[in-house]
Amino acid sequence: MADISHVTVIGSGTMGSQIGMVAALSGFRTTVVDLSEDALAAAEKQLRSRMERDVEKGRRTQGDVDAAFDRLDFTTDQAAAVAETDIVIEAAVENIEIKRSILAELDAQAPEGAILATNSSNIVSSRLADATNRPEKVCNMHFFNPVLVMKACEIVGHEGTSEETLAAVDTLARAMGRDVIRVRREIPGFVANRLLNALRTEALKLYEEGYASFEDIDTAARSALRHPMGPFELMDLVGIDVAYLIRKAEYEQTGDESSLPAAAMERMYNTGNYGKKTGKGWYEYDDQGRKGRPNPDF
Ligand code: 3HC
Repeated sequence: MADISHVTVIGSGTMGSQIGMVAALSGFRTTVVDLSEDALAAAEKQLRSRMERDVEKGRRTQGDVDAAFDRLDFTTDQAAAVAETDIVIEAAVENIEIKRSILAELDAQAPEGAILATNSSNIVSSRLADATNRPEKVCNMHFFNPVLVMKACEIVGHEGTSEETLAAVDTLARAMGRDVIRVRREIPGFVANRLLNALRTEALKLYEEGYASFEDIDTAARSALRHPMGPFELMDLVGIDVAYLIRKAEYEQTGDESSLPAAAMERMYNTGNYGKKTGKGWYEYDDQGRKGRPNPDF
């Protein structure tokens, strides 16, 4: 397989936009695709303000940032974006039917040799590969939020993924400055999210059964365990919608009731409180995304 030089990311949400930024900063020609021009414009604005801040703080040079934006395109034209791509990283919504239909489209549009990777942590690639005619080139490449800060990347093939594909994705991830975790066999949630979920499940249980407030549980994680943020703060950062859909996707795969979202998470999801991105989740957030008081409804 030729070296990867062009990366396409499908989805300009929190994950997709930052995956694209990191690829461009790492020297790859990169295209971020979304259905909505507005979503792309919002993503570009966010990234520009993040990069401005990094330059102000001396974390990057203006030259590196300008060069990265020169390599980074935003478009709604998926077919044109992938016509000459080497890899597509799908970072759309956590819904298997949507992911299968995107992969089938990409299979028809991208060059024969292109790898089709998904950023999903819960929908394993064996459930997507047969939507394409290139199952050996399909795998999971799972990043963490915020991608600009969190260096980890889990790489997971299904039984039919070729070693050549996994090696190429591994090389790309390392070139993007990632610490690679190779997951040897598929399991929903892979490694990091399974560790995180164990903590989150216990946190939700303690809260729902009235042992402590969610703020105090967050304080315990931060102040007793030195986690950078508590499990409820982290749900707000990742998105309650994402956390909820991950639980649903896991339940579809395991059929195990313990995989279902906790009642409090369901209530939060059903009321449209998705966390930082909607201004309200477990906590309230201002326009700048700064955390305010705990959500008085919970
Ligand atoms: N995007 C990009 N960069 C960000 C950011 C964001 N959303 N939030 C913070 N940063 C960067 C900024 O450079 C910021 O510095 P600045 O404000 O001076 O520019 C720097 O991080 C420090 O941020 P803060 O001072 O606001 O706060 P912290 O020191 O607490 O750091 C954090 C923020 C990096 C998010 C840290 O709290 C943390 O590591 N939290 C845990 C995150 C985590 O566990 N992520 C994994 C989630 S699981 C997942 O993603 C899997 C998926 O499948 C759901």
